Amino acid sequence: MTDANRTGRRSQAWFGAQGRSGMLYRSWMRNQGFGHEVLDGRPVIGIATSASELAPCNAHLTRVAEAVRRGVWQAGGFPLEFPTMATGETLMRPTAMLYRNLMAMEVEELIRANPLDGVVLLSGCDKTTPAMLMGAASVDLPAIMVTGGPMLNGKYRGRDVGSGTQVWKFEEDLKTGRMTQEECFFAEGCMARSAGHCMTMGTASTMACVAEALGMQLPGSAAWPAVDSRRMETAQAAGQRIVRMVEEELRPSRILTRRAFENAIRVNAAIGGSTNAIIHLTALAGRVGVPLSLEDFDAQARAVPTLVNLMPSGSYLMEDFCYAGGLPAVMAELLRGGLLHGGQITVTGRGIAENVADAERLDPDVITGLDAPFQPAGTGTAVLRGNLCPDGAVLKQSAASPHLLTHRGPARVFDSPEEYHRVADDPELDVDENTVLVIRNAGPKGYPGMPEVSNVPLPARLLKAGIRDMVRICDGRMSGTGYGTVVLHVAPEAAVGGPLALVRDGDPIVLDVPQRTLRLDVDEAELRRRREAWRAPAAPHRSGYAWLYTQHVEQADKGADFGFLRGCRGHEVPRDSH
Ligand code: FES
Ligand code: MG
Repeated sequence: MTDANRTGRRSQAWFGAQGRSGMLYRSWMRNQGFGHEVLDGRPVIGIATSASELAPCNAHLTRVAEAVRRGVWQAGGFPLEFPTMATGETLMRPTAMLYRNLMAMEVEELIRANPLDGVVLLSGCDKTTPAMLMGAASVDLPAIMVTGGPMLNGKYRGRDVGSGTQVWKFEEDLKTGRMTQEECFFAEGCMARSAGHCMTMGTASTMACVAEALGMQLPGSAAWPAVDSRRMETAQAAGQRIVRMVEEELRPSRILTRRAFENAIRVNAAIGGSTNAIIHLTALAGRVGVPLSLEDFDAQARAVPTLVNLMPSGSYLMEDFCYAGGLPAVMAELLRGGLLHGGQITVTGRGIAENVADAERLDPDVITGLDAPFQPAGTGTAVLRGNLCPDGAVLKQSAASPHLLTHRGPARVFDSPEEYHRVADDPELDVDENTVLVIRNAGPKGYPGMPEVSNVPLPARLLKAGIRDMVRICDGRMSGTGYGTVVLHVAPEAAVGGPLALVRDGDPIVLDVPQRTLRLDVDEAELRRRREAWRAPAAPHRSGYAWLYTQHVEQADKGADFGFLRGCRGHEVPRDSH
């Protein structure tokens, strides 16, 4: 292990090396036209880009990388762009979530194996942001994130339409005959009319805001639309800043403290963010050794009202959010109410209070104030416990129907989402609006990958009768753009023998969100009998990555990371390769 060099920089273990090795490291860089002078010990900055045409939300990151590169040169660094895996939400099957850990592992290993002193993380689509953060946290070299920004507002027949959220509504309209297939094709183009990630407060926008709240991206970064020139300005500023961060040795471990996570949880509540943030933040906390339980999410968020009126919980979109002041305006308002740790250091080298000191709420309809919030405190994501979810489950109250938050109804059980979809349109399906739809085997191991399948559409017959919501319970996730009274992330999952596996048709299920409980009203002796008779389903994969995944993935309440990826493995220079 060598770390000797002229400047003390890690990259000089490569470019400053003597003899044959040094020659190899330098010579091949020169085939790209980099002269000897840029290998002189200046900070070498990796630009990790998850650009891919297979991840449409990230396809434009190549342009963002150019702006970052400019900033790095300006500040006296040496930028080197490299591709990472891109886990695109829309195309990847069985779910992008199956690959989040793989991407995080790749990001980590690429940073460590290469002559880098710092890294800029370019992400966008849902899983790419947490994967980048998790990977970088496990290396702990100075790192700054630049998310790619949301698409412009969708526009359909004079109306704003939100990506994701509107898909569920269009589907209902198609089913009930309010929309033709032709109209639907047209609407598809209206919904995604520029580069960028989903412009609702879905998981991508949520994670971009969370990254900013954690202090890992520059103030204001989360909201600039992907095609707004200020996105490029921000990227350039990030390129400049990472060079200084290397000099200051400002590493993720200094930024990602318990207080940063508390800030992120509170910001997530204030923006009406995605339930997926819970899983990703828990996994990230595991990388930096910050203890974070499901109850922390409920407890930290309880005093925080939802300030931001964005779909799916509200009516506006990210472009409006940007013009209304973006996340700095939200954070300034939370600080005013004493709801954030203002001294928490960020990539700017300053605390968040200083970062957002000049922020203003420019449109009080989009970003409401604490005195008249969009939704009162205590309506955020609830963490449930009970004999149906001993290790927890979550429910996004702001996306649920108030009348269903306390509910008792008979279970109708489906062993897979497909099993439900096969009969959902059957007019004879034996369910009514009081039925609790149980969809199981959609957890991390069971599916595998814990897909966003939990908010299954309502049975066609009930939709036609005007029913718009029913209680659904699942061990999978829900898209951040989804809505409905859906109990998610039930742990342990059915596939490992969690109580969800024991539910039978007709069993009464009692949901009491104010009391934070979810119970199966079946007596313990009967449940014991069922547990003894339960047999684990056959493993879906015997080899390959999916096998590795099912062997090592942890349950939802632990963040669904691989057990062996927990913690930080540092950035010591590896042994020589030649
Ligand atoms: Fe990529 Fe929504 S599909 S952000
Ligand atoms: Mg999503």
